[in-house]
Parts: sequence; structure tokens; C-alpha cells
Amino acid sequence: MSENEALDQGAIIEFPRQKSPGRSRTRARRVVAIGGGKGGIGKSLVSANLGIALAERGSKVVLVDADLGGANLHTCLGVAQPRVSLSDFIERRVERLEDVVVPTGIERLELISGAMDDLDAANPKHSQKSKLLRHLKTLDVDYVLLDLGAGTSFNVLDFFLIADIGVVVMLPEPTSIENAYRFIKAAFFRRLQTLAPNDDFATVVGRALAPREGQAPMTPLDVVAELRKTNVESAARLEHALAGFSPWILVNQARTRGDFDIGPTVVSAWKKFFGLELGSLGAVPHDDAVWQAVRARQSVIRAFPQSAAATGLLRVAENLIALER
Ligand SMILES: Nc1ncnc2c1ncn2[C@@H]1O[C@H](COP(=O)(O)OP(=O)(O)OP(=O)(O)O)[C@@H](O)[C@H]1O
Ligand SMILES: [Mg+2]
Repeated sequence: MSENEALDQGAIIEFPRQKSPGRSRTRARRVVAIGGGKGGIGKSLVSANLGIALAERGSKVVLVDADLGGANLHTCLGVAQPRVSLSDFIERRVERLEDVVVPTGIERLELISGAMDDLDAANPKHSQKSKLLRHLKTLDVDYVLLDLGAGTSFNVLDFFLIADIGVVVMLPEPTSIENAYRFIKAAFFRRLQTLAPNDDFATVVGRALAPREGQAPMTPLDVVAELRKTNVESAARLEHALAGFSPWILVNQARTRGDFDIGPTVVSAWKKFFGLELGSLGAVPHDDAVWQAVRARQSVIRAFPQSAAATGLLRVAENLIALER
């Protein structure tokens, strides 16, 4: 196992404490991460179009292609591949993260392009990754939107966990809902590790959460109940960690009326059965306008502003803005 692999599997990132946003801020007002376990479910589509929608509503936005292995966010925006990218920051060819921010041609919307075909940048050293995560939070804009890669590697989860708002994209299909749950569980476990890096609390909980042969996997709520029998203090800590963890579900490619209700249904079911405090950010319809826009290398909001997908994405942007009020 290489050092980078070892680090990706275990090293804990220390996150800076957030200062409260003020007038002369030196940090992004909101960091929003768009994730979800699987590839091809619309994370980049959502990120690009939310970025445009927020910028059109007057916010200053930086979109970050945090898919370190397979960056393609620039294509969703209709932008030629920028000459500078995250690779330059990760590989220390530039000093400041601001040096890899490029314009998109859309007012108030800027882009940090992803690391391209650069194995070292796709799997950064621990120190470089924590520096990147720290710097992302200091960008002086209203929103930093992080378009995450697929999977549940620590590289993906650590981006998800630094966000003020973590969005989990899912399709209205049982398999995709299961994947979203797996992603959320993995993120929660990683959060436990970062909250308590110096003791074996996370390991104990992680072991309990892992599926065992012939048994249904335990949920965080089961683990709380188990712990309460033997260790009231750990049970309280776990409950505390659960309370501060509240990702937002976004259903993409909704086709039927029922599909639009899946977000709120999943949220209340997962709260009841798993003890997870989630929210629903809305649903985006399945729409041929999306792939037409992708083929034309444009955003659907700009290419087909009247389409059902564009309308759905604008509504999601409104919901996101409403979280601030
Ligand atoms: N609402 C939609 N309606 C129709 N097609 C869609 C919709 N959302 C996504 N797609 C299709 O799915 C494709 C993949 O979307 P996208 O690239 O955003 O996924 P992703 O989750 O970012 O994938 P990856 O993990 O590989 O980066 C799009 O190119 C588009 O063709
Ligand atoms: Mg993508």
C-alpha cells in the first residue's frame, strides 16, 4: 500500500473552527458540497446549474471541480478546459488557491477546474489535501460549490464534511436510495473519526455499523441503543454527533408524481429508523433538455431556460437560498 493510499484510508483532517460570517469576511459565506455515492447520477449537472442560478440571483459563486480523478465540470458550463487547475495548487506550482480561479463568462460565477490526468493530484498527500480544504473555506465569496467525485473514498468524504451544507444526490430508484444511505453512513463514520481522532470511539461505532454475516447491518440508532446499555457517556456522544450531522437529499431524474415525493419520504423514514436528521432540497425532473444541453456543451439553465429541468434546478436554488433565512 502506498503512503497516499494509507493516508486516504486513515489520516484525519483537522478542520479549522468557523468564524461567524461578518462584513469583512475572509471566508466563504457558505460551502455547499454536492455528492452521492454513485457516478452518473447528476452531481455535476446539479453543481453547474446551481452555480449559475445562484450567480443569476446576485450571489458571488466559485464552483470547484473536486472530482480529483475525472474532472469535467467545465464542460457542463460550456467553458473550454482552463489552463490552470487544482493540480497546479496541489502540486504547488502556484501558491494561492485564488491563482487557479478562472472566469466562466457568466457574471459573478467563477470556476476552479479539477485536477486533470495527474495521478499525484488525483490522490494528494495528506498535507496538501488539508491545505486545500482549509483554503476552500477562505475564498471570499457568497457560495463555494464543491462538485464531488463518485464513491466513498476519504478524498470524497472529506470534501463533503467540510461543507456547511452537504447535498446528497439520488435517483428515485431503490438501488440509488441504498447507495445514498451507504454514502451518508460512510460520511457519518468519517465524521466520528474527525470528532474523536484520538480514541477508539469511532472504531467501536464503525465496527457496530459494519454489516455482519447473516445479520442486518446496525443503524446509528441501534448503536446508540446498544451503547446506552453499557456506556451511557458514549451513547450520549454518539447522539450528539448524530444531531450535528444533517445532509440534504436531492432527487434527480424524477419522472412520476411519486418520484417528487421520494425526498420527503426518505427523510422521514431515515429519521425514524436510522436516527439521521436529514432535509429534502427538492427534486429535478428527468428531461431530454439535459442531455441536449450536455451534447451542446452548455448548461441546461442557459440553453433551455424554460425546460422542466431548468425550472426544477431553479427551485432547488431557491430552497438553498431559503436555508439562510
Ligand atoms: N435530470 C436529468 N434528466 C435527463 N438526463 C440527466 C438528468 N440528470 C443527469 N442526466 C444525464 O446523466 C448524465 C450524467 O450526469 P453528471 O455528469 O452530472 O453525473 P455525475 O454524478 O456528475 O457523474 P460522475 O460521478 O461520473 O461525475 C448527464 O450527462 C445527463 O446525460
Ligand atoms: Mg461529475
